[in-house]
Formats: sequence, structure tokens, C-alpha cells
Amino acid sequence: MRVLVSGGHGALGKRIAEYCLQNGHVVFAPGREDMDCTNRREVHSVIRKFGPDFLIACAAFTDVRAAETQRTAAHFGNVLTAEETGHACRWAMLPWVYVSTDYVFSGPGPHCVLSEVNPTTEYAKTKRQGELATLRNWGQVARVAFITPEQATNYKWVNAYTLSNREWVEQTAERLVKFGEVMLTGVVVPRIWHLGPPQVFKTRAALVKERFPTSPCLNDLVTTPEEHKRRVGYAAPEDTRFCDCWE
Ligand SMILES: NC(=O)c1ccc[n+]([C@@H]2O[C@H](COP(=O)([O-])OP(=O)(O)OC[C@H]3O[C@@H](n4cnc5c(N)ncnc54)[C@H](OP(=O)(O)O)[C@@H]3O)[C@@H](O)[C@H]2O)c1
Repeated sequence: MRVLVSGGHGALGKRIAEYCLQNGHVVFAPGREDMDCTNRREVHSVIRKFGPDFLIACAAFTDVRAAETQRTAAHFGNVLTAEETGHACRWAMLPWVYVSTDYVFSGPGPHCVLSEVNPTTEYAKTKRQGELATLRNWGQVARVAFITPEQATNYKWVNAYTLSNREWVEQTAERLVKFGEVMLTGVVVPRIWHLGPPQVFKTRAALVKERFPTSPCLNDLVTTPEEHKRRVGYAAPEDTRFCDCWE
């Protein structure tokens, strides 16, 4: 499979590229300087030159805290990128997936793919708008929840209350590529997918503890949304668990 990954220098994009190379796929994972996803012509030109079978859209504005104040940048990163990438893919008849987030949910879960969303942060609101732009442009939406080893080793404190299907970034990368393989078999697939370990619900703190059991951040657990908001200005949702997960 020839895989084009937008936002290819980001945490997830890099892991997708690594996974592809190790598993016999041909991959091109350009950074913003080589493919600005707010510019449909640039995306289209890369599609024409590389000739992918599938595009995974990882380009995004992912700083949840900054999104609260940098709303235009968050809109460009999460909505306009979906609109423009989608336009280019639609024009080229290229199957594509927009990587979205469990943060579009809040309130008691587990949440099904067709459950009503309730994004509470600016980041989540723009990701939801990105989902809608994707659906308008013939794309698929894959909601994921992951952390990276870099994040985990930099945490000074850690969220120990948001229940989700969170996993490590390498696992999400593998799931997304395998999802592409399924799409290319030509089976009719739903437009929105939940990707994650089914029936395995973990907080960030629980994940960090498994891989970095002596991490100092485990000495400072944040156990309520109020405390989270007090520290960083927004409250992470309490329950973003998925049901109907695709393994
Ligand atoms: N990390 C998480 O905890 C998490 C959880 C659930 C879902 N997600 C989703 O997973 C996806 C990937 O996240 P990530 O952790 O890999 O984020 P990341 O490390 O911040 O990577 C995002 C990449 O997108 C690039 N980008 C931004 N605007 C662009 C544009 N206009 N054109 C091209 N590239 C652009 C960024 O480049 P610059 O550095 O130049 O800005 C960055 O390299 C996102 O859709 C995110 O919403 C993340």
C-alpha cells in the first residue's frame, strides 16, 4: 500500500511512517513545509506526484491548552486542514481518513460511533468541526486516544481521572494503517470509526505507570476536572470511553 501521511513530522505521523516502513508499505510523510494542508493545491500536487492509495490526515493543532486562546490557529489546524485535504482527496478520488479525538465526547460513556458528541474544549470543538468537514469531503473519521513516550516522560503531574480507550502512540499508528488496508479491500465501511483497545479503559496515569513505573509525575495525580482546570485552564472530560471499537 502507498500511504501518504499529512502532518508527517508530528508524534503520530512519525510512528505511522515507521510502522509502514517496517511492514512493507511505501510511505511519504511530509511536514508542513512540504505539504501545507491548508492549501488544497499543495496537497493535490503531492497526491499527483506520489500517487498514494490512501491518505492519513494527522496534520492538526494539538495543543489543547493553547487552543483555548489561539482559536484562529486551532481552526486552521483542525478544520481548514480537513476541508482542504478533503477537497484534494475528493478531486483525486483518494480514500482518506481524518484522525480525530476521544475529546469530542464528555459525560458518561461508553460512547458509540453514533452517540451525540459534546465537545467541551476549544480543541475538541474544532476537531468536531474537522470531522464534519471530513464527512462532507468523502473522508472517514477515526477517533483515537493515545499518549506518547515523550509526553509521558515530560509530565510533571498526570491526569488520573479521564477514563478512555487510551493506548500508546505506536499502537494507534498500527491500527490506522491496518484500518487503511481494510478500507482498500472495497468493503463498505462506516464513516466514523472508533479505534482503540476495546473494553480496556485506562487513564493517562495508568498508562504511564505501566511503561514508566518510577516516573515522578505519578506522585502528583490530578483526580478531578476542577483541579485539572485550575492547573491548565481547561477541564479534560471525565469519560471518553468508546464502545463499538474496531480492533
Ligand atoms: N496526542 C494526543 O494525545 C492525541 C490524542 C487523540 C487524538 N489525537 C489526534 O492525533 C492527530 C496527531 O496528533 P499528534 O500527537 O501527532 O500531534 P502533533 O505531534 O502536534 O503533530 C501534528 C503535526 O501537524 C502539523 N501541522 C499543523 N498544521 C499543519 C498544516 N497546515 N499543514 C501540514 N501540517 C500541519 C504540525 O506541524 P507544526 O509542528 O509545523 O505545527 C505537527 O507536525 C491529531 O489529529 C490529534 O488531534 C492526538
